Amino acid sequence: MRILVTGGAGFIGSAVVRHLVLDKGYEVLNVDKLTYAGTLTSLKAIDNRPGYRFLQADIGDHAVLGDAFASFRPDRVMHLAAESHVDRSITGARDFVQTNVMGTFNMLECARHYWQGLPQTQKDAFRFLHVSTDEVYGSLGDEGLFTEETPYDPSSPYSASKAASDHLAKSWARTYGLPVVVSNCSNNYGPYHFPEKLIPLMILNALKGKPLPVYGNGANIRDWLYVEDHARALDLIAERGRIGETYNVGGRNEQRNIDVVRRICELMDRYRPQAGSHERLITYVTDRPGHDARYAIDATKLETELGWKAQESFDSGIDKTVRWYLENEWWWQPLQQGYDGKRLGLLEPQKQAVAI
Ligand code: NAD
Ligand code: TYD
Repeated sequence: MRILVTGGAGFIGSAVVRHLVLDKGYEVLNVDKLTYAGTLTSLKAIDNRPGYRFLQADIGDHAVLGDAFASFRPDRVMHLAAESHVDRSITGARDFVQTNVMGTFNMLECARHYWQGLPQTQKDAFRFLHVSTDEVYGSLGDEGLFTEETPYDPSSPYSASKAASDHLAKSWARTYGLPVVVSNCSNNYGPYHFPEKLIPLMILNALKGKPLPVYGNGANIRDWLYVEDHARALDLIAERGRIGETYNVGGRNEQRNIDVVRRICELMDRYRPQAGSHERLITYVTDRPGHDARYAIDATKLETELGWKAQESFDSGIDKTVRWYLENEWWWQPLQQGYDGKRLGLLEPQKQAVAI
């Protein structure tokens, strides 16, 4: 099995690549531009494996991706490369449109060109898994869950760009017959998570005794999934998902942001005891513009049709995650030269308009 993975140097992509190479023994070509969010140190465990190759490239580069398809000859594509941080998309949406929309368009076109030239048996077996987010569905109220039938209603430039890419991917299945499957997952957490996102940012700020910035009143709810559970789900969906279908992925782990931050503080109190609790560092700050109130996934289709089940509970996953950051400073320390933890995504009136 030969799998072309995009974004394999990122948080989820690196978990997927490690799973495919180490647990499944597949051959993998990892195509990644290595933006601020991509780091090859996340792949240290596999970088000498004979079945693993890396290509530094932009998914929007038609010539380079065309050559990569022609020479690697993948049986499957797992497309994860994206700009992924909501706050960055508020500060500047251009890269999100460029990579998430135009880059996905280019991936679909390169895949289609390659797929059309395959012998019939390989053509039938080929799959293009487009990896997306539950944020395309917008915000839930107090009740209900996102299903695969929930209408799209994205709030942020990030989720809007992912929604656009999902529509492109599905239209390539309907119009050209490209064997596309789409997955929409809830918030991931775990090792190798770039420390601009809630959980790793809070762990590292707590470790350094810095304020823990909770947006708004901290009552926003996210549905947390351990990243390795997501990686296993994606492998399953790429292998057995039905063409043209969407699969929601989520761990049934809804948590208010403030409860997540308090849990991290408790774990930090246990593993790095101080005079007072780390909770004293919690600081309520200006809310995110367009902040979605609640995300929650109904993963019944994935569970019943494909037999997937999350292995990690939030309690076990968050404990592992905190301990991983405490034990792996070698990984996160160098990243802090590129990002110093500064607040992103606040509106600055004089800078709101962006020239086209
Ligand atoms: P990430 O930001 O950690 O990693 C993204 C990777 O893509 C990086 O390695 C980066 O270098 C690469 N990349 C960015 N632009 C590129 C380009 N133009 N060409 C080639 N490579 C490029 O993101 P992540 O959290 O691992 O998310 C991976 C995918 O999963 C994304 O498509 C995201 O929308 C989706 N997703 C993320 C979450 C989450 O909680 N993080 C949840 C559901 C879905
Ligand atoms: P984030 O990790 O950015 O993921 P997403 O926006 O894709 O859900 O944020 C998770 C939640 O945590 C979200 O409701 C915003 C909130 N948040 C904070 O309260 N403080 C922070 O410093 C960050 C980064 C996020």
